[in-house]
Amino acid sequence: MLRRVQINDLQVSFNGEEILKDLSLDVSPGQMYAIIGPNGAGKSTLLKSILGLIHPQHGEIVLSCDQKKPVIGYVPQSRVIDDDMPICARDFISLGQVSSFFPWPSRREKRILHEMMIFTDTDRLAKKPVGKLSGGERQRVFLAQALVRHPDLLLLDESTANLDPDAQTRMMELVKKAVHEWGVTVLFICHDFQMVRAYADHILLMTRGYYKTGDVQSILDDQAMLKNVFQSSFDEGVTHHEGSASSGLSVSASSR
Ligand SMILES: Nc1ncnc2c1ncn2[C@@H]1O[C@H](COP(=O)(O)OP(=O)(O)O)[C@@H](O)[C@H]1O
Ligand SMILES: [Mg+2]
Repeated sequence: MLRRVQINDLQVSFNGEEILKDLSLDVSPGQMYAIIGPNGAGKSTLLKSILGLIHPQHGEIVLSCDQKKPVIGYVPQSRVIDDDMPICARDFISLGQVSSFFPWPSRREKRILHEMMIFTDTDRLAKKPVGKLSGGERQRVFLAQALVRHPDLLLLDESTANLDPDAQTRMMELVKKAVHEWGVTVLFICHDFQMVRAYADHILLMTRGYYKTGDVQSILDDQAMLKNVFQSSFDEGVTHHEGSASSGLSVSASSR
């Protein structure tokens, strides 16, 4: 099990533009952390830094686990799947498994795959082409692929965006079940404050150069701070490339 995720003074710049500046965060194991903040704040950059896909200019990320290297599951923000992609859900999920010595799956790997598909209720989709699944089914398949190695840490980048409320709840209930059953630690980026209230234990609020962590109530009930954070990003003209001004709408809705 994960013992600790510690992020110390993280700094990431792209082409001389500072995206993350002195970001520090202590993550307790077996908890769900929502990451909220306006588009362009650096939320996806943070997850990619934890994954080691981005190398920070300064700072460190310490992931420590009992007796082994931690396994990280990741569902990226956007994943373009061609409608005609000729891969069925079962094979797609199995891509998340680390191949063993043989080029074919062992009996154990097949069993684990089957168990994960039951767990995520994707077993009935097993033979369907991924490109033909509904949005909610597709996200569950992505989640199953991220969970199939039983990760210690699960990173979800707007995994419930664009899903209807039922599909959102279904997805987050699965994540919660994984937390309760195996103690996985979750960082999830989310613009929907109702989902955050329902599922997060803690919040990291991010905007350029300003970060605040706290329990759900202390962050979401501080409406003056939220307005300030989300409004200033509008004033600075940060690009809203992730589905218009959804973050702003969430704030104004919850701040009434
Ligand atoms: N690989 C990259 N190269 C250059 N700029 C990037 C790269 N990745 C992200 N950025 C920029 O960093 C900023 C933060 O991006 P991102 O982390 O995706 O924000 P968020 O997920 O909070 O919306 C954006 O301005 C984005 O254009
Ligand atoms: Mg993002």
